[in-house]
Amino acid sequence: MYNLGALGYFFIWTILISGVYLFIFYDLHLDGAYNSVQRLTVGQKYYGGVIRSIHRYASDGLALVVALHLLQTLFSDRFRKYRWLAWVSGVVILPVVWFEGVTGYAMVFDEKGKMAAIQLAGWLDAIPSALEPFSRNFIPSGTMNSLFFLVLTFLHITLASLMLLILWIHCMRISRPVINPPPRLALYVGLMLLLLSIVKPAVSGPPADLAALASNPDEDWFYLFPFPLADAFAAAPSTIWLVSAGALLTLSAMPWIVREPRAAAKAVPAKVDLEYCTGCEQCHKACPFEAINILPRSDGRDYELEVEILEERCASCGLCLPACPFPAISVGYWTHEFFDKRIAELFPGGLKGRIMLFVCERAGDPDVFNTLENTAKMVVPCAGILGARAVTACLDGGADGVVVAGCVEEDCHYRLSQRRLDITRLEIGRIKRVKTVAVSRFSPDKTLDEIRKAHEGFKRE
Ligand code: HEM
Ligand code: SF4
Ligand code: SF4
Repeated sequence: MYNLGALGYFFIWTILISGVYLFIFYDLHLDGAYNSVQRLTVGQKYYGGVIRSIHRYASDGLALVVALHLLQTLFSDRFRKYRWLAWVSGVVILPVVWFEGVTGYAMVFDEKGKMAAIQLAGWLDAIPSALEPFSRNFIPSGTMNSLFFLVLTFLHITLASLMLLILWIHCMRISRPVINPPPRLALYVGLMLLLLSIVKPAVSGPPADLAALASNPDEDWFYLFPFPLADAFAAAPSTIWLVSAGALLTLSAMPWIVREPRAAAKAVPAKVDLEYCTGCEQCHKACPFEAINILPRSDGRDYELEVEILEERCASCGLCLPACPFPAISVGYWTHEFFDKRIAELFPGGLKGRIMLFVCERAGDPDVFNTLENTAKMVVPCAGILGARAVTACLDGGADGVVVAGCVEEDCHYRLSQRRLDITRLEIGRIKRVKTVAVSRFSPDKTLDEIRKAHEGFKRE
């Protein structure tokens, strides 16, 4: 579930590679298309058939992970403000993926493909155009010829390329997007596709017969489900277009129509003070949302570069703050000095015998930690805001150790906090006295136990 976007990419690469193989053997003629797929499936059983099945199951996998990825970004509040471009481009991908699937089925030109093509043609005919009605292709004395398969194949390949283009836009404002699943996950999913393809190979139905009424082929829960659904509601094509366009538009507008949680609404974007900036680019490298631009120096100082914060892209996460070696960055009231002052003010008696606990405000209810003994707590916007300076101040102030309680490593709300914390640990060197724990929303007691154990461990160091 932490790798749904990356799995989407994995399935797309699998579809593209297997698709190239299938294309080599695909016959673009009216009387050859079905047979060419059959020859590949039955004749080349142990490679052609398997590759065809992998192509099919990877497409099903894509539909599944895209749906889950959409729901996950929506329900984890990762779709608005600085993420709007990823969200809107994601919505644009939906019909492209769907059309891609339907054209794929139609290319096989079995009864199921015929049903999909006829239904889609009926829907397309409802769009006013000067072209001859698409449905006319499918009447026995109609205009269908090999051109139909040429257009279909062209669409199938073009839509796949369009998908890649939209995905490029999708990840444009995401720094270091995770587009590859971890190797073990990729291996397991790859093996699963292979196993499924061997145990239950994808096969064609009977060849399409234009002289016969459309038969009722098996359901397809991934791409063709809108057709029986529309039939069940006896929806006219114009209604289908209106409902689909309305649903896609409403979905695209979600970043602007769903109200923000209060904490997010009052977040202030980062600011850079050029007086202290040397243009070292460290903040740019730390930013998870491509919100920091590098520009040529404009103030005549003796440095080559400077940075500019793009406020509308800034998530106010604070990851750039510890990355900056100078006091050039502030995120609202969060500055290097603020950490120093706050730590000293909060704990005037020093931290001796206690642990310093930093809690990410995105990782659940911070009050859960009030029951911890010998613990000084500070709530921060993201665990990644902690730099070497703040952590060292706590350790030098006598703390037994520092615990950072944040999101699950792979599921950080601001994406890159773990990477930033790893750099902080390396910078301070006293790695054993700094521990990160993932806050469990379902069993907070487990997290509290983990922190208590960490404290015992610090004492033994
Ligand atoms: C082919 C389909 C898709 C693929 C391959 C894909 C892939 C990805 C990848 C790799 C990321 C970056 C993850 C990260 O590193 O944090 C991402 C982020 C995102 N995707 Fe998709 N995506 C697809 C479709 C969609 C759809 C349909 C939506 C929703 C309508 C969507 C919404 C988002 C959002 C909001 C983010 C930003 C999440 C964040 O910043 O944590 N994506 N996607
Ligand atoms: S606060 Fe976060 S999103 Fe904003 S510039 Fe800094 S690192 Fe980038
Ligand atoms: S990290 Fe600090 S000094 Fe370096 S470019 Fe960013 S703001 Fe300037």
